[in-house]
Amino acid sequence: MTDPQIVLTERVQQALARAFGAEHADADPLIRPSQFADFQANVAMSLAKRLRRSPREVAEAIKAELSDFPGQVEVSGPGFLNITLDDSWIESEAQHMLEDARLGVGTITPPQTVVVDYSAPNAAKEMHVGHLRTTIVGDSLARLHEHLGNTVIRQNHLGDWGTPFGMLIEHLLDIGEEAAVGQLEAGLGTEYYQAARAKFEAGDAFKQRARTRVTTLQSGDPETMRLWHVFMDATVRYFNKIYSLLGVTLTDADIAGESMYNPMLNKTCDELEAAGVAVLSEGALCVFPPGFTGSDDKPLPLIIRKSDGGYGYATTDMAAIRYRVHDLKADRILYVVGADQALHFRMVFAAARLAGWLPDTVSAEHVQIGMMLGKDGRRFKTRSGESVKLMDLLQEAVDRASALLDERGYDESTRREIAHAVGMGAVKYADLSVSHDSEYVFDFDRMLAFTGNTGPYMQYATARIRSIFRKAEQAPADAAGPIVLAAPAERALGLHLLGFAELISQVTSDSEPHRLCSFLFQTASLFSTFYEECPVVKEGVDPETRAHRLALCALTLRVLETGLDLLGVPVPERM
Ligand code: ARG
Repeated sequence: MTDPQIVLTERVQQALARAFGAEHADADPLIRPSQFADFQANVAMSLAKRLRRSPREVAEAIKAELSDFPGQVEVSGPGFLNITLDDSWIESEAQHMLEDARLGVGTITPPQTVVVDYSAPNAAKEMHVGHLRTTIVGDSLARLHEHLGNTVIRQNHLGDWGTPFGMLIEHLLDIGEEAAVGQLEAGLGTEYYQAARAKFEAGDAFKQRARTRVTTLQSGDPETMRLWHVFMDATVRYFNKIYSLLGVTLTDADIAGESMYNPMLNKTCDELEAAGVAVLSEGALCVFPPGFTGSDDKPLPLIIRKSDGGYGYATTDMAAIRYRVHDLKADRILYVVGADQALHFRMVFAAARLAGWLPDTVSAEHVQIGMMLGKDGRRFKTRSGESVKLMDLLQEAVDRASALLDERGYDESTRREIAHAVGMGAVKYADLSVSHDSEYVFDFDRMLAFTGNTGPYMQYATARIRSIFRKAEQAPADAAGPIVLAAPAERALGLHLLGFAELISQVTSDSEPHRLCSFLFQTASLFSTFYEECPVVKEGVDPETRAHRLALCALTLRVLETGLDLLGVPVPERM
């Protein structure tokens, strides 16, 4: 482990144990980056109270036990420990990192099985902008877990079942299969849905047909199932176009939509009822998980079978959680879904625990996705008030990226090559760089800016390092070092890079990709300062210094590229 903060934590804890007894071995030394040294430890303050000694005295005692420490320790002020690491220690740790194919990032042993439920658009409607965020954040979490060696099972919980399918299939019969497929593949799902809906509302005959069709669909009638497949296959082909534009890792094999659980729903309800977990209430079968009450203080029901015998969203999620624990053998289940479904998931998790379907050894987590807002601060919509088509939005991102590159003087062929990566990178990075549960304003101008914590800036930073290597006529992989951190800007960059491995593991366990963005942004900023202050391939730089600096460039490049890849942000070679 090279992360300085963790190394220091361990060292200070050992010192605490030696100075004050083993019972202090796992006190938090409260190590923070400091402006007066590399780090500051504040533990002496809190410990002094408990030991009834002066903080300075306590700090001195800790310092005395840190004699074999690879750096300088000073007591300052009322009892702060200011810690400055030896350059040689930072250099050798950075060198290890450079020589390690995984940049010091470990793997989790034994690996966990992590189910990631994400994207999950509804087939009855057009995939909308809210699904964009769950898709992008979920994909990054899947990549992170895979990188750490966990077994990742992606589950795309498509909304592909339920009463709307009666009218959707009847509409398909009305307009003909070919026309229907054409519309759906072109992303006109919303229009298709609205047309079906209008007929449903207008005429009794159509309504009746739609109702009958729901029944034949539920009963698994072969011809109805064939029509359902025609509809779904065309819809999924459209979703796949979006996924491939975005560079998202979901495939057809990851589809586990609501329809998949349909055959399990009877049994799901029966078992919950037999176990006494679900009870009949006003004709509906409900679970009342303890601790959930409505505004009137009455227990809140999770309805798993409506009074008309129909199943709903909650029934499917009860079947799904059982399947994920029992059949997929999940250790951890991440539901990357809109924050507005928080109550639903808390109730599903509680009901599943009650039923014994979700043992304490398995963690189920709702990774809440904050709402996407327009610049006006309201739910993101087109000017005419309709929801924005994802395909149009992504195309606009690419077009705008292309125009910006044009303004910046890129030639036609480079532009064509990188506009897609810049556009998609901008959209994805913008989604990832704010904490996933906060609301987020969709703003093309901001996400496409070439400065600040944006996708284009990060891509540009990597391209700039690659261009240094082209100038040096050397491949980054051949920059073997040694890493020597002579100038302050080199040292600051080197010290920062050492935190990468620990950050990746924290970001993964806490489901917080935005912290990876911050780390990479800081990396790029520190690199900028380094590059301003420390010429690499300029004339007059002696060959040794050049080799030292190229190695630092190579390490930075790999950290940036690995990080961006884990975020799912594409990285063009040149820019
Ligand atoms: N299709 C749902 C929606 O668009 C999201 C499904 C999320 N996953 C789940 N297991 N409920 O709101």
